[in-house]
Amino acid sequence: MARAQALVLALTFQLCAPETETPAAGCTFEEASDPAVPCEYSQAQYDDFQWDQVQIHPGTRAPADLPHGSYLMVNASQHAPGQRAHVIFQSLSENDTHCVQFSYFLYSRDGHSPGTLGIYVRVNGGPLGSAVWNMTGSHGRQWHQAELAVSTFWPNEYQVLFEALISPDRRGYMGLDDILLLSYPCAKAPHFSRLGDVEVNAGQNASFQCMAAGRAAEAERFLLQRQSGALVPAASVRHISHRRFLATFLLASVSRSEQDLYRCVSQAPRGAGVSNFAELIVKEPPTPIAPPQLLRAGPTYLIIQLNTNSIIGDGPIVRKEIEYRMSRGPWAEVHAVSLQTYKLWHLDPDTEYEISVLLTRPGDGGTGRPGPPLISRTKCAEPMRAPKGLAFAEIQARQLMLQWEPLGYNVTRCHTYTVSLCYHYTLGSSHNQTIRECMKMERGVSRYTIKNLPPYRNVHVRLILTNPEGRKEGKEVTFQTDEDVPGGIAAESLTFTPLEDMIFLKWEEPQEPNGLITQYEISYQSIESSDPAVNVPGPRRTISKLRNETYHVFSNLHPGTTYLFSVRARTGKGFGQAALTEITTNISAPSFDYADMPSPLGESENTITVLLRPAQGRGAPIRWETLYQVIVEEERPRRLRREPGSQDCFPVPLTFDAALARGLVHYFGAELAASSLPEAMPFTVGDNQTYRGFWNPPLEPRKAYLIYFQATSHLKGETRLNCIRIARKAACKESKRPLEVSQRSEEMGLILGICAGGLAVLILLLGAIIIIIRKG
Ligand SMILES: *[C@@H]1O[C@H](CO)[C@@H](O)[C@H](O)[C@H]1NC(C)=O
Ligand SMILES: *[C@@H]1O[C@H](CO)[C@@H](O)[C@H](O)[C@H]1NC(C)=O
Ligand SMILES: *[C@@H]1O[C@H](CO)[C@@H](O)[C@H](O)[C@H]1NC(C)=O
Ligand SMILES: *[C@@H]1O[C@H](CO)[C@@H](O)[C@H](O)[C@H]1NC(C)=O
Ligand SMILES: *[C@@H]1O[C@H](CO)[C@@H](O)[C@H](O)[C@H]1NC(C)=O
Ligand SMILES: *[C@@H]1O[C@H](CO)[C@@H](O)[C@H](O)[C@H]1NC(C)=O
Ligand SMILES: *[C@@H]1O[C@H](CO)[C@@H](O)[C@H](O)[C@H]1NC(C)=O
Ligand SMILES: *[C@@H]1O[C@H](CO)[C@@H](O)[C@H](O)[C@H]1NC(C)=O
Ligand SMILES: *[C@@H]1O[C@H](CO)[C@@H](O)[C@H](O)[C@H]1NC(C)=O
Repeated sequence: MARAQALVLALTFQLCAPETETPAAGCTFEEASDPAVPCEYSQAQYDDFQWDQVQIHPGTRAPADLPHGSYLMVNASQHAPGQRAHVIFQSLSENDTHCVQFSYFLYSRDGHSPGTLGIYVRVNGGPLGSAVWNMTGSHGRQWHQAELAVSTFWPNEYQVLFEALISPDRRGYMGLDDILLLSYPCAKAPHFSRLGDVEVNAGQNASFQCMAAGRAAEAERFLLQRQSGALVPAASVRHISHRRFLATFLLASVSRSEQDLYRCVSQAPRGAGVSNFAELIVKEPPTPIAPPQLLRAGPTYLIIQLNTNSIIGDGPIVRKEIEYRMSRGPWAEVHAVSLQTYKLWHLDPDTEYEISVLLTRPGDGGTGRPGPPLISRTKCAEPMRAPKGLAFAEIQARQLMLQWEPLGYNVTRCHTYTVSLCYHYTLGSSHNQTIRECMKMERGVSRYTIKNLPPYRNVHVRLILTNPEGRKEGKEVTFQTDEDVPGGIAAESLTFTPLEDMIFLKWEEPQEPNGLITQYEISYQSIESSDPAVNVPGPRRTISKLRNETYHVFSNLHPGTTYLFSVRARTGKGFGQAALTEITTNISAPSFDYADMPSPLGESENTITVLLRPAQGRGAPIRWETLYQVIVEEERPRRLRREPGSQDCFPVPLTFDAALARGLVHYFGAELAASSLPEAMPFTVGDNQTYRGFWNPPLEPRKAYLIYFQATSHLKGETRLNCIRIARKAACKESKRPLEVSQRSEEMGLILGICAGGLAVLILLLGAIIIIIRKG
């Protein structure tokens, strides 16, 4: 700013200053030059040819095209097009505003351009760069004056180079004279204020602002010149006040490669202004070299260490941020971080995140690219809850189809999890055995069928969700399997008691009722009978019993008949297997067809003739298995009287002699096979015959006898007998053979004695018996 003021002062001063002030240095190329004005110039050695120093005086033999005087000259027709020659003016390192003034001459007679006169300002021995000013064409046979306002000061130094570049026309002449260093500001070229360095972050727009003072006309062209040569035209030129203007240059989105020295140049035919070189510093925004480090991972957080000790790019770091995103998520979030460690909160469990660090240096666009990411996964969290909605889809007798709500990640809170379905139920007849089972479900499955279950059984089911962090058990739900047909009744469980015409049958509930027994059904049928009178097979009969009545008494059956029984249980689903058994009723004693006591057919002293009628078998076939016996019993008053059909018959066969020997009063007088009594026939008791080993001795006339007819049936080791009294023989008639009796037994005498004494009593008793029989 101080320099800018000084410049303004200098400019105002210069307006009044005499133009003829002595230059500080310069070359006029005269032979007798002013020693107060030192001249230093040199011809470059690296170029194509040399400028010629000429002296043309009036009268010398020279082409009329050249003006008189001493100066540097290039004869264009002597050189090839494109060839160059440089003249270098002395090195300058001024402390104050100054101006370099020179005169030039460009002329060919026919108006073609001899070439281009270009001027370079090389600072501190640096590269030549591009010309700050040039002139081409043919400008008449006269000298022109131009100025250079170079704002490069001590301790920097610069050199001005004058370049002759031969044009393709190769006509005419180029001349250069009176190169002067004036220690006051230029009148025809603007002076730039000091141009400051510009620092930007890579990728940003850089802006150079060139402030200049002096004349600025329409013809003025403003450029930003890069030391290496490239030119940038001004974005805008603005007049700030009288003789002061501001040229702005924009470098869009600069990169590191554009870092260089730049200067402002104004160009006009009458001269050029050149600013000092300022530096464009392009900073690379910083980026960490390494990813952040994971210190700890939780289900909903990650603690990381930024790990920003090594960076790519430029400091200083003024801000650190963390950018994180779900690896497969669409969004990213950025958090500012002030410490070296940072805790990321509110993350989803079992989810992969990418975390990178952002570093920022000062200035716009100072934030560097995100560093390499840390890819880290949060841990699983405990499951939110147990699986819900356990219900049946279908219930059958032996299987359960179950379903439940499908599980989402928001419930499992982990991608690794298992769902187990656990169930238990009792088994065994006494339900003392418990079956427990846990099945691991396939992933994503929310249905399952439990098979091979017992029917009509409570099955307790629960679902369990497990992940590495925890386990949640659902509530136990109880389902009952459906009923099935009952199992069979065990044949061993049937117990029975057969009677002659009844059977008592008892059974047990099936071992596998498979439901609620509603009834038992028993059917039976006669299949075989030893009684030919029974038709076999007989009709089938069925009865049903309530579930609590596991027994039945079957009555009105045929004796000696085999029945086939089948017993089965029933549930709501139907009947189970039947248990079969055959039961045979006991045979019955044979029965007699004597409506009343028949009168004897005939009677003598020693005999009585009775009518024998065949008995009915009642279960046992009379013809083959039955024997008839005629029993003769001596009637005694003390003895209890027998009623016909009474059970108190005569099971033990007893011959007359045996009875006599044992002192018994009855004996078997005859035994007849059933075949010998096909129909009713008379039989004489006491006929002195022997029937099947039984002697039928003549009866004692003085004794009273009772005659019994007995039938004995045998069937399968069982004996049934029936007897009936069919006659009575009175006593106390004259005995024709008393000796016979006495021969047989002395006891008989005693018996006879008693007989005589009690005759009256006997008659009375007999009368009473007759009365009773008549009434019956
Ligand atoms: C310039 O060069 C041409 C061709 O060589 C020559 O004819 C002419 O005389 C030269 N001019 C001067 C002044 O030497
Ligand atoms: C500029 O000033 C420095 C120190 O002040 C001096 O050494 C140098 O010679 C000066 N240069 C000119 C050209 O006066
Ligand atoms: C001379 O300057 C003009 C603009 O003034 C420019 O267009 C041209 O390229 C320059 N020529 C050389 C050889 O520097
Ligand atoms: C940079 O310059 C370009 C035009 O050159 C412009 O479109 C862009 O908006 C500028 N950027 C900034 C950050 O100013
Ligand atoms: C889980 O997400 C599903 C949709 O994906 C939604 O219907 C359900 O309500 C969510 N459950 C919970 C506990 O947030
Ligand atoms: C269940 O009870 C039965 C008898 O009621 C017994 O024989 C069996 O061993 C028991 N089983 C168990 C597993 O206790
Ligand atoms: C069986 O149950 C019925 C009612 O269901 C009842 O009336 C009957 O008395 C019961 N029988 C026995 C033997 O308990
Ligand atoms: C019926 O017969 C069986 C053998 O068949 C026998 O054990 C049982 O005692 C008999 N019952 C009666 C009342 O005679
Ligand atoms: C009975 O028969 C036997 C021989 O068998 C005979 O000796 C006896 O005299 C007979 N008795 C009568 C009374 O006829």
